[in-house]
Amino acid sequence: MPKATTSSSYNAVAKALHWLIAYAIIAMLIIGWTMKSMANGSDKFALFQLHKSLGITILALSLIRLLWRLIHQAPPLPAKMPTWEKFAARGTHWLFYILIIGMPLTGWAIVSSSTRNIPTILWSVTYLIRKHVATSLGPFSVTFFEAAAGAVCVSLIHRISPRAGLSAIIK
Ligand code: HEM
Repeated sequence: MPKATTSSSYNAVAKALHWLIAYAIIAMLIIGWTMKSMANGSDKFALFQLHKSLGITILALSLIRLLWRLIHQAPPLPAKMPTWEKFAARGTHWLFYILIIGMPLTGWAIVSSSTRNIPTILWSVTYLIRKHVATSLGPFSVTFFEAAAGAVCVSLIHRISPRAGLSAIIK
């Protein structure tokens, strides 16, 4: 049940998400058209990766925005506004949700159904860590990366485990 609003405008979270998503979509259109017209090579590959990374981020932000909207009520539209305009405004908002969630899903579907087997490296984070550790540690690199991730998981499990007061010790 959406929370009733007493405010006449959206709160800071909704406004921040709104502008982040809006500017990111404009950037995505520019990146999308630019990357398509580039010659094959490492620059084109990097721009495709940026496009996919930003696109998946938009999907996550849009889902958070939708969740926000489902638990909050939108501020009321001006009382003087004709009913048909209010109806059109609300309808357009929901149409935008379909678009901002549908566009990244469509891109994701294109990549998933492609037979070209081009790798997807989101935000290059895991790629950069692996590459860096690989150069410095040679054949032990991947083991080191997985061990570090495992250590983080174990410490998190210990933090939430009620057994033996472990959380008090490692806090
Ligand atoms: C809001 C989200 C997105 C927008 C606005 C967007 C926009 C675009 C645009 C304008 C193009 C160029 C189309 C053309 O000139 O033919 C494009 C192509 C492409 N996009 Fe996106 N995109 C989005 C999300 C994504 C995501 C999440 C992925 C993948 C994870 C993705 C993967 C691709 C791929 C692979 C192409 C090239 C398709 C081809 O070669 O025909 N896009 N996108």
